[in-house]
Amino acid sequence: MAIVQVEGARIAYDTYGSSKPAVVFLHGFPLNRLMWAPQVEALRGVGRLVVPDMRGMGSSELSNGTTSMERMADDVHGLVESLDLAPVVLVGLSMGGYVALSYYRKYREEVRALVLVDTRAEADDEKARENRTKMIEEVQAKGPSAVATAMIPKLLSEEAQKDAEVVAEVRRMIETTSPAGIIGALRGMAERPDSTDLLGEIAVPTLVVVGSEDTVTPPEGAEAFAAAIPDAQFEVIDGAGHLSTFEKPDEFNDLVREFLEELPNGESDS
Ligand code: MLT
Repeated sequence: MAIVQVEGARIAYDTYGSSKPAVVFLHGFPLNRLMWAPQVEALRGVGRLVVPDMRGMGSSELSNGTTSMERMADDVHGLVESLDLAPVVLVGLSMGGYVALSYYRKYREEVRALVLVDTRAEADDEKARENRTKMIEEVQAKGPSAVATAMIPKLLSEEAQKDAEVVAEVRRMIETTSPAGIIGALRGMAERPDSTDLLGEIAVPTLVVVGSEDTVTPPEGAEAFAAAIPDAQFEVIDGAGHLSTFEKPDEFNDLVREFLEELPNGESDS
């Protein structure tokens, strides 16, 4: 694990390989960079893989009470600058997708391509914000294990929930997240702006992926999301829930490998 200092916080990351393009993996909530372990194993040859922990999660520090999606995007940009990685391919799952859209809004000229997984462009509605507030109260009262109990049925398909090892790994990631980090991200997600207007402006190759069993960002919504992005490729991973990259890594990794190989100008070559 390496560390980069970005505006008041130490941001942790791993990096593998040195070929082009740089592919930056942005994890979901309330997880950390270890959720990308199956991609790190399988995709080493496709580019330089860069896998950060978002501020307040994993081994990255928290510097204030709310971690906005823009703050996380700025942290990723600080990392990209410090390693001189631009232009980058951003792969973001769920909250990581919110961060990728925020990054695109601000730094689009430094983005080579997007892979948006089990995510959405809309801001939270009133009900979603209320649920965030309830979860904040829950973490304050009972700690991260209560969040793990609430989140696991949302993150994993019914089938994956029968796999004790997968459940244990996801639980471990959530339980090692600090309460303050969880609360900061919940506040940041509740406050995030709507990005629907941005979708039509996306002018880089984009792959949208969703699990067929995703109940958090269901396939119908993901299809509409993909349709709003010019020339986006839309793929459904059969049988996978919200954490599709973790549940069905082979299917996801094949999609990413092919997508990168087909990027114009042979940018996936070393
Ligand atoms: C995630 O997987 O990152 C979360 O489900 C996102 C969210 O709560 O909106």
